[in-house]
Amino acid sequence: MSDPVSYSVHGAIAVLCINNPPVNALSQAVRQGLSDGMDRAEQEDDLKAVLIVGEGRAFIAGADITEFGKPPMEPNLPDLCTRIEASPLLVVASMHGVTLGGGLEVALGAHYRIAQPNARLGLPEVNLGLLPGAGGTQRMPRLTGADKAIEIITSGRQIKAEEALDLGLLDKIEEGDPQEVGLAYAMDLIATGAPRRAISEMPPAEPVDWDAAHEGATKKARGQISQGAIVRAVQAASEMTFEEGMRHERALFTELLHSDQSKGMIHAFFNERAVSNLPELKGVTPRALQSIGVIGGGTMGAGIATAALLAQMQVVLIETGEEQAAAAKSRIVGNLQGALKRGKISQMQFDALTTTALTVAVNYDSLRDVDLVIEAVFEDMSVKKEVFAKLDAVCKQGAVLASNTSYLDVDEIAAATSRPADVIGLHFFSPAHVMKLLEVVVADKTAIDVVATGFELGKRLGKISVRAGVCDGFIGNRILAVYRAAADHMVLDGASPYQIDKALTDFGFAMGPFAVADLAGLDIGWMTRKRKAPDRHPDERVPTYIDRLCEDGHFGRKTGEGYYLYEAGARASAPNPKIPELIAAEQAELKITPRDFSDEEIVRRYMCAMVNEAAKVVDEGIARRPADVDMVLLFGYGFPRHLGGPMKWADLQGLPNVLADIERYAKEDAWFWQPAPLLKTLVAEGRSFDDLNRAAAK
Ligand code: 3HC
Ligand code: NAI
Repeated sequence: MSDPVSYSVHGAIAVLCINNPPVNALSQAVRQGLSDGMDRAEQEDDLKAVLIVGEGRAFIAGADITEFGKPPMEPNLPDLCTRIEASPLLVVASMHGVTLGGGLEVALGAHYRIAQPNARLGLPEVNLGLLPGAGGTQRMPRLTGADKAIEIITSGRQIKAEEALDLGLLDKIEEGDPQEVGLAYAMDLIATGAPRRAISEMPPAEPVDWDAAHEGATKKARGQISQGAIVRAVQAASEMTFEEGMRHERALFTELLHSDQSKGMIHAFFNERAVSNLPELKGVTPRALQSIGVIGGGTMGAGIATAALLAQMQVVLIETGEEQAAAAKSRIVGNLQGALKRGKISQMQFDALTTTALTVAVNYDSLRDVDLVIEAVFEDMSVKKEVFAKLDAVCKQGAVLASNTSYLDVDEIAAATSRPADVIGLHFFSPAHVMKLLEVVVADKTAIDVVATGFELGKRLGKISVRAGVCDGFIGNRILAVYRAAADHMVLDGASPYQIDKALTDFGFAMGPFAVADLAGLDIGWMTRKRKAPDRHPDERVPTYIDRLCEDGHFGRKTGEGYYLYEAGARASAPNPKIPELIAAEQAELKITPRDFSDEEIVRRYMCAMVNEAAKVVDEGIARRPADVDMVLLFGYGFPRHLGGPMKWADLQGLPNVLADIERYAKEDAWFWQPAPLLKTLVAEGRSFDDLNRAAAK
C-alpha cells in the first residue's frame, strides 16, 4: 500500500498529499503522516510554506469513524490541528470534493484556504450524534460569527464553495488541479509577504442569546442531545480563552462519543451502506434498466414514476381509462413541479421529463420494450393476478415483473405468469419519490439476477434497499401491525391516543401512531379489521370504537375528522372530542376499568412489541439481519435515527431486560406477548442482535 501521506518539495513549498481511499478519512496513519510531514518541512532549510492536499475524490471526509469506540491512538486530532496552526511556516489547504468534520478542522488549522468551485465544506458530526471535536466549534465562530456557526454545525449541512467564501471559511476559489492551484496560491502568498494567520488568535465571536439558541436547537433536535451541546461549545468559544474552549469542546465530545445516541447513529451510518451489500449478489450482473413501466397511476404509481423520471429513466405508465390516465399524469406533473420549485430540476429538465421521458397510455402494448414493470394497482389479489397475466403476455423476454403490493403473497402473484423467476416484489413507501426505503421482496422462484436488478433500481433511485422475504406485510408492515396493536391495547386499558402520540413523539418518532392512522386514512384499518374478523383468534384484542367514526364517513385527515380534527387545508389539528366518549363506551362494554399509564410505560410496551415481532421476522429469515430491520424502521417508519433502530435500541437496553418486560406483559395477555424464540436464545447465550449482525457480515 502506498504511503497515506506523501511528502514532496516544490521550490519553497512542501506538499503533504493525503492518499487514503476512498475518502481520505483521518486514520491514525494519516494523522501520523501529517504530523511527520509538518516536522520534516520545518526541519528543511529554505522552505517557506506547506501545502496540504488530498488525492482522489475528496480533500478529507473527516475522522475515521471506524476508529470510534476503540482506544485512542496518538497523535490525536485536536493536537494535530493545533500543531499545524502553530507552524512557523505558512500553511495552506487546497480543497476539492468534500471537506468534512475533522477534515474541515484540519483546514481551519491552516493559515489560508483555497478550494475548487464545486467543493463542499461541512461539520456533519451532528449526524453521528457528536459535535466537532478538533476545534471546529472554537475556530468556525471566530470566522462566521456565533449564530451562523450554530446553524451550520447543528444542521451538519454541506456548504457550497461560494457560500464558504462569503462566510470567510475560504480565502479563494479557483478551478484547476488542487495541487497546482494550491501551489500557485501559496507562491502568491509568499511573494506578497502574507502573514501567518492563526484563527485561534482571532477575537472570539460576539455573544448571542445562548439560552434562546440552546432552546431552539434542542427543540428542533427531537430528543437528540448533541445539538444542545453544540450551542454550549460555541458559547465556550465566545466566553473562554481558546485553550479553555478547546478543553470544553473535548469534554463535550467525549461525553457524546460514549452516549447511546452516538452508538445508535454510527450504527445507522454503517448499516445504511451495508444493508444493500448482499453476499449472494457479488459478481451477479443486473439486467438492463433503461426504461420502466408502471401499472396504475394512483398515489404510489405516480410517485414511483416520478422517482424513475428524476433518475433519468424512460417511463411508460398504464391506466385503466383516459380519465384515469389524465389524473395520473397530473399527479406526476404535480410531483415534478414540486421538484422544480425546490430547485432539484431545471425548467428545461421539467419540460423534458413531462414530455419525451414520460408516456401515459391505456394499452398494455406500450409495454413491449420496457426492461422492468412495477405494478401499483389496487391491493386486491384478483386484480393483481389479472394484471400479471397481461404483463406475461406482452412484456419482452427477460423483462423484470415487479409488484408494489403492501401485504399480498408475491409467490401467488408470480404463479399467475409463465415466468415466476422474473417476478419480484418492490415495495415503495409513500410518497414514493420522497421516502428513502425500498423493500426488495424475494419470492421462492425469483432469479438471482432479478434480485440484483431490484437492488440496482434502488441504487439508481437513491433508495436504501433492504432484502425481505415473503410474508403478510414483509418486514416493515408486519412489524407495524404488531406495535400498532400494542398501542391499541393501551388505549383499551386507559391511555389516551393523544398521550400515546405525545409520548412517542417526545421519544423521537416523527409522528405518533394515531396521527399516522389519520394521515393514511382510517378506512384502510377498518377494511382490514373487517377482512380479518372471520379468522381472528378468540384471544386477540381488537378495539372497534374507531369503526363507529368510520361508519359515519370520517376517515381521518382526508375527511377533516379522525382521532384529530382538521380545519380545511390546515395541518394543525386538535383532539376529536368524540374519541374519549367512544373509547369509554367500548371499555364499559368490555368491562375494563381504565388505568393510568406513564409515558415511560407507553414507550416501553410499544418498543417491546416492535422488538419482539422483529426478532421473529429475523428468525424466520424474512429479514437477513437485525440491522436490516433497523434500516426499514429508520427509513420507512419515522423511527428516530439517534436511537439507531429498534434492534440497536434493544441491545442498548440489554436484551435480558427487554425479555423480562415481555414476559411480565405476557402475564396479562399471553396470546399477544409470546416471547420470540430468537430473543430467548440470545438471552440464554448472553448474545446481542449486534452479534448476529457481525456474524452475518463475515
Ligand atoms: N470514516 C471511515 N469511513 C468512512 C468515512 C469516515 N469518515 N466516510 C466515509 N467512509 C466510508 C463509507 O463507510 C464507505 O465505506 P464502504 O464502501 O465500505 O461502504 C466509503 O467510505 C464510501 O462512502 P460513501 O459510500 O458514503 O461514499 P459517498 O461518495 O456517497 O459519500 C461522503 C462520501 C460524503 C464522505 C460520506 O461518506 C460521508 O458523509 N461520510 C461521513 C463524513 C463525516 O461524518 N465526517 C465526520 C466524521 S466525525 C469527525 O470528523 C470527528 C471530528 O470532529 C473529531
Ligand atoms: P390508488 O388507489 O391510489 O391507485 C391505484 C391505481 O391503479 C388507480 O389509479 C387505478 O385506476 C389503477 N388501476 C387499477 N386497476 C388497474 C389496472 N388493471 N391497470 C392499470 N391501472 C389500474 O392506490 P395506491 O395507494 O397507489 O396503492 C397501489 C398499490 O401500492 C397497492 O397494492 C398498495 O397496497 C401499494 N402500496 C400503497 C402504499 C400507500 O401508502 N398508499 C404504500 C406502499 C404500497
